[in-house]
Amino acid sequence: MADTPIVFNDGAAYERFMGVWSRLAGDVFLDWVAPAPGLRWADVGCGNGASTAMLLDRCAPASVEGIDPSPGQLAYARGRLAGRRARFEQGSAMALPFADDSFDAAMMALVLFFVPEPAKGVAEMVRVVAQGGIVAAYAWDLAGGGFPIAMIHDEMRAAGIAVQLPPSAEASRLEAMRSLWADAGMREIELRRITVTRHFPDFATYWATSIASASMNAAMAAMSPDAAEALRRRVLARLPTDAAGGITVSATANAVKGLKA
Ligand SMILES: C[S@@+](CC[C@H](N)C(=O)[O-])C[C@H]1O[C@@H](n2cnc3c(N)ncnc32)[C@H](O)[C@@H]1O
Repeated sequence: MADTPIVFNDGAAYERFMGVWSRLAGDVFLDWVAPAPGLRWADVGCGNGASTAMLLDRCAPASVEGIDPSPGQLAYARGRLAGRRARFEQGSAMALPFADDSFDAAMMALVLFFVPEPAKGVAEMVRVVAQGGIVAAYAWDLAGGGFPIAMIHDEMRAAGIAVQLPPSAEASRLEAMRSLWADAGMREIELRRITVTRHFPDFATYWATSIASASMNAAMAAMSPDAAEALRRRVLARLPTDAAGGITVSATANAVKGLKA
């Protein structure tokens, strides 16, 4: 189970869970990157377009090329951003289907840890941006407990239930990001942590939303109803509710930016 790859095949389900989290962290991230308007962007691992929409809405790009291996995610992205300055193509961060020096900026939003060889993925972003171009990324701090449902994962481990992690989880450490960017020869490298909070009106909403995470699909399908109910109760017991019964959860991402030398 732990070795089963996390599959993203449903853009609408993605939107309800990770799309919202992505926007919360992405807002802070793009404020920090602070790109000039009019840039040609590559959104590597664009998913269902959550990060592409942020670029379009906040950064006035000349164009955005989104790349993702998942047809389900890309279909959602194409639908939500029809008529905007964005195009989407199936592909991998490991071999971007773009010419050298053809962008002004490239980013990976919550993708670095899914790339089988992160150094290769970073080298590809550096290859496709022109000299002086921006290369930036943010990723949940998986090792530091920053994933939005880290508490559910903790309780799964305590119950002996395997937790699915992306293949390159270590790349989400701040120091790993620093090394990846430095080894790729970038200059003016900066790093930061981004902590965001999300409110749910009640535990039932929190639970239904969270177990729809791509990282939970296989585990939930394999769990007996009793085990699933036991897990739900353990998480419920750990999460404080406010006076109105609401739940507020935080998550932390690590972010990095640099310029192509
Ligand atoms: C957590 S989602 C992030 C999507 C989007 N950037 C966002 O901010 O919401 C991770 C995405 O990485 C994609 N992915 C997985 N392996 C990849 C690879 N080798 N190259 C590019 N994208 C990949 C997945 O299909 C998925 O859509």
